Amino acid sequence: MAEKTEKTGAGEKKKKTRVLFVCLGNICRSPAAEGVLRAMARDRRLDDRLEVDSAGTYGGHAGQLPDPRMREAALRRGYMLTHRARQVRREDFSQFDRIVAMDASNYRNLHRLAPSSQAAARVVRVADFFRRFSGQQEVPDPYYEGREGFERVLDLLEDACGGLLEEIAAGNA
Ligand code: 4NP
Repeated sequence: MAEKTEKTGAGEKKKKTRVLFVCLGNICRSPAAEGVLRAMARDRRLDDRLEVDSAGTYGGHAGQLPDPRMREAALRRGYMLTHRARQVRREDFSQFDRIVAMDASNYRNLHRLAPSSQAAARVVRVADFFRRFSGQQEVPDPYYEGREGFERVLDLLEDACGGLLEEIAAGNA
């Protein structure tokens, strides 16, 4: 696995974890996950240990900003989402250490797209990082939901990003 490292002041190398969040359209859940993780990493001074991006298994929204309902819900919690949607590409499987699927369908599709078993091993479920919501299996698609669906997405993502950052801080991700 190619790992990106960064020299610290003391010349010691620190591993950077590269995280790609993936949902279906890359306009609701995964760009929100990207914004939440980035903000939480900054608050915990872990942003130098992390690179984060997002993508969708479906490319029909490529180039678009996140859905306005997602942007508004995120902004109410202080997250500004400026990502432009893109489809997952083959290079993602070598450029990211953790490819985090939002639901079972994304997980299956990513396994189908993975160019090798080594690449497929980088695909994990967002539910692996839930703490408070440890009984939940996924971040459900909010696209056909009302405002509470988007709030639910953010509740779950804040929980998962906290769990992921704990693992990164402990050197396990
Ligand atoms: P996302 O939500 O996968 O969280 O970005 C969706 C966005 C678009 C569609 C479905 C889900 N769509 O059907 O276009």
